[in-house]
Amino acid sequence: MSFATLPKRVFINDVAVRDGFQSEAQFVATEDKIRLINQLAKTGLAKIEVTSFVSPKAIPNLRDAQEVIHGLTRQPGVTYVALVPNEQGCERAIESGIDEINLVMSIGESHNLANMRMTCKQSLEQFRHVMRMLNGTDMRVNGTIATAFGCPFDGEPSLERILWAAQEYAAIGMHSITLADTIGTAHPRLVEQVAVAYLAALPQMPATLHFHNTRGMGLANVLAGLGAGIVSYDASLGGIGGCPYAPGASGNICTEDLVHMLESSGIDTGVDLDALLSCAHELPTMIGHPVPGYVLRAGKRTNLHSRSAAQRQ
Ligand code: COA
Ligand code: ZN
Repeated sequence: MSFATLPKRVFINDVAVRDGFQSEAQFVATEDKIRLINQLAKTGLAKIEVTSFVSPKAIPNLRDAQEVIHGLTRQPGVTYVALVPNEQGCERAIESGIDEINLVMSIGESHNLANMRMTCKQSLEQFRHVMRMLNGTDMRVNGTIATAFGCPFDGEPSLERILWAAQEYAAIGMHSITLADTIGTAHPRLVEQVAVAYLAALPQMPATLHFHNTRGMGLANVLAGLGAGIVSYDASLGGIGGCPYAPGASGNICTEDLVHMLESSGIDTGVDLDALLSCAHELPTMIGHPVPGYVLRAGKRTNLHSRSAAQRQ
């Protein structure tokens, strides 16, 4: 991989308020969610995944989906996204006026059963109904292939299975696809293999990669994805996140660490890192515990310290 040949511009979707807050022990207050999303929307992020229209019994922390969306001050140029598992979620999404829905199915059958209580066949059937409901609307539809790099129960899926799901999504009429490493088992070589195969099979279908940093491979995986030519990434402010239906799952790659790495390497993210760090500063108070992100703790690599202050310590 050579930096000279990497893409020069990357697009980031922040998923902290959805992937992050869904698995927090405490409910984050609706007004805090709204305030954080409005602040994030001013940092230059391309997209923000703001909530889920799932069963409030499955994910009580996101039971305020409708109020959150209605309370937002929409920032032009930012795409606001909500996760949807089924027809009922789609009805609620249409009512909310969200820009884009994210339909999610795990290709590990066991994880899909645990998470969505559906077989893959049933999820795809729901998605077909959802697409029919959206006829005549201008809502965008992204499809997430969850557990694309490993399922906690069924292990690593074959390339054929990943491409099968992607082809199904394309045939259903979705506009873009996310390949998600739900449990952080992707490694750079696997990411390259999957991304290259995906781009060869579906060159017209825009792709996003969604990594969790469970085993410390998250940012290395981004470089592997970039090397293959994928320019869109999910990440979460502070590096919070995790799936409540995946044992041992932990946080997404951290948005400010991702922006810091890419911008340091001369790759444009469109994001104002200082504005993003101000958002991240608020998170520990909001959720009641420290967050895993590195740059928030260490500061930017260009920060200088006063020597006399260091000597006093
Ligand atoms: N929004 C709100 N409520 C919903 C809903 C939706 N999208 N889909 C179903 N429900 C409600 C039903 O109305 C029903 O309510 P009731 O018990 O008061 O009658 C209840 O949930 C059960 O409905 P059912 O269709 O039998 O769903 P289920 O129990 O088989 O669960 C899902 C299926 C998909 C709704 C549920 O597993 C879910 O929400 N999963 C999301 C998990 C998630 O977000 N994981 C992390 C992100 S990947
Ligand atoms: Zn995730």
